[in-house]
Amino acid sequence: MPGSPATTGRSLAQTKDHVGLPIADILATISQEGVNRVFVDYLQRTTPESQYLVGDAHDADCAIVACSGAWLERCGYGEAEVIGRGCRHLQGPETCARAVAAMGEAMGRDGQCATSLINYHADGSKFQNDFILVPLTSRDSTAARYYMSVHASEPALDWSLAPPVPAQSPEARMRSFSETLSPSQATRSPPAGLRVPV
Ligand SMILES: Cc1cc2nc3c(=O)[nH]c(=O)nc-3n(C[C@H](O)[C@H](O)[C@H](O)COP(=O)(O)O)c2cc1C
Repeated sequence: MPGSPATTGRSLAQTKDHVGLPIADILATISQEGVNRVFVDYLQRTTPESQYLVGDAHDADCAIVACSGAWLERCGYGEAEVIGRGCRHLQGPETCARAVAAMGEAMGRDGQCATSLINYHADGSKFQNDFILVPLTSRDSTAARYYMSVHASEPALDWSLAPPVPAQSPEARMRSFSETLSPSQATRSPPAGLRVPV
């Protein structure tokens, strides 16, 4: 049976709500501002059902430094098999390569992504894994210090804590539009009504 102690070598007595780097240590190194507030709040309210992983953004493989016990139960791997390595071992023949590439691309630019893909339990059986992957920015810079995934929103993420997305002015919208054009297109003058005032 997926995730059962028989397949993982863990006994129920060893099951913990959180394993790896303590939540207090993670919170001490990340900013408490901006979108981080949603995840700081989540980490302060976790329950035994919360499913999350935290990876070290300073590590080339973003190795997992902490996760919830409920996640270990879900994937069927033991603590020693999850902490200190990436999550590639969860992937297999039916895992969507584009979804994996999207995660790599998001992490390459300190961005976030929502993913839904097939993963594999420790016993080889498949499961549908829906989660969001977000950077937790550092306390002293805007760079990601950790990457965090939330697989089951228990407790619910409180998005009202996130700062509102500023409405873009027409000029800023036009500027970002021009920046996405190839150089040859960008030299062409935009239609008069769309021209950025200089
Ligand atoms: C915190 C965190 C959680 C992740 N959770 C999963 C997961 O549950 N399933 C999965 O297939 N990949 C997961 N990944 C992504 C992989 O570890 C890896 O980053 C992805 O396969 C892209 O890298 P690659 O192109 O080198 O394989 C997670 C990554 C991080 C940082």
